[in-house]
Amino acid sequence: MAIEKVGVVGCGLMGSGIAEISAKAGYDVVVREVDEAAAAKGEARIRKSMDRAVSKEKMTAEDRDAAMARITFTTELSGLADRDLVIEAIVENLEAKNELFGALDGICGPETIYASNTSSLTVTDMAAATDRPDRVIGLHFFNPVPVMKLVEVVRTIETSDASMEAAFEYCRRVGKEPITAKDNSGFVVNLLLVPYMLDCIRQLERGVASIEDIDKGMVLGCGYPMGPFTLCDFVGNDTTLRIAEIMFDEYREQRYAPPPLLKRMVAMGRYGRKSGKGFYDYSGDTPVPMEI
Ligand code: CAA
Ligand code: NAD
Repeated sequence: MAIEKVGVVGCGLMGSGIAEISAKAGYDVVVREVDEAAAAKGEARIRKSMDRAVSKEKMTAEDRDAAMARITFTTELSGLADRDLVIEAIVENLEAKNELFGALDGICGPETIYASNTSSLTVTDMAAATDRPDRVIGLHFFNPVPVMKLVEVVRTIETSDASMEAAFEYCRRVGKEPITAKDNSGFVVNLLLVPYMLDCIRQLERGVASIEDIDKGMVLGCGYPMGPFTLCDFVGNDTTLRIAEIMFDEYREQRYAPPPLLKRMVAMGRYGRKSGKGFYDYSGDTPVPMEI
């Protein structure tokens, strides 16, 4: 089950990073987006990230151009027909993911491995809806993908050893450190990280301190690389809300319940960095805390 041809579905925050590291590692990559505008936005994001690596002398301009040339963009699912591995990074919605995998069943060969980058859904719920549950895995990358070293490789009760081995080999070739996670909602990291993020929002609702001071507290007091509100804006508040809803639905534990403030922010389009406003306003040179 040697992987040479990789497909990435969705070229947003995560998909663009997955396409980038795959192309840098020498894989032939096809990226599928919903329309030309989204594909162009994804392509620009990948190029910007590689340009940054070139300007920091971590990559040569020739290697960047070669990696970009290995990526093809398409709006057609049929463009994924010959892929050995297809990684989806579309919206955190089971119906959307299952509709995608169902359509791929009629397009990809029987050997193709499907992977989901889901944050909180269970991979089994996707595997059960395909014609190849032994070849369905979770590949949970972390944001920003080019920087974060971890990938959680998620095994369902149907996943074959061969699929796991192929997934581990892929992770190592793209320079990541894989760990095996059981297929429970939130896997390992989000099971612990998401309640922390939600709790920080609840403490802000209670008025314990300002956005800036809570962020400063966790950075300077605990050595976290980012404060919790900077992290929420970085992940995307819409994504965090979806994750919280899914995990709360799964566990019915208060610590996964989405705080009202998070719901209100998403209703107002304050998604974080990607929409220009979240807990901070990103329209100026430096982020400014917003009114809550
Ligand atoms: N793309 C590519 N490279 C990036 C990048 C990006 N978006 N952002 C930063 N980098 C690189 C920089 O080029 C830099 O590289 P060098 O040190 O080699 O020059 C390095 O990362 C550090 O960047 P900066 O100096 O600009 O900034 P920083 O020191 O503040 O680090 C950070 C940025 C790596 C993002 C750091 O703040 C961090 O680790 N934050 C926490 C991120 C985190 O917790 N991620 C997990 C989110 S949860 C998740 O992903 C799971 C889920 O399902 C929701
Ligand atoms: P995003 O909103 O930045 O990107 C999603 C992209 O998918 C959009 O560009 C959209 O146009 C595209 N898309 C939607 N349906 C599609 C389809 N059928 N075919 C092709 N493209 C389609 O979202 P994101 O933050 O990149 O998250 C994607 C997935 O990764 C989610 O499952 C999320 O839970 C997971 N995840 C997110 C993070 C994070 O920090 N944001 C971290 C790890 C995992």
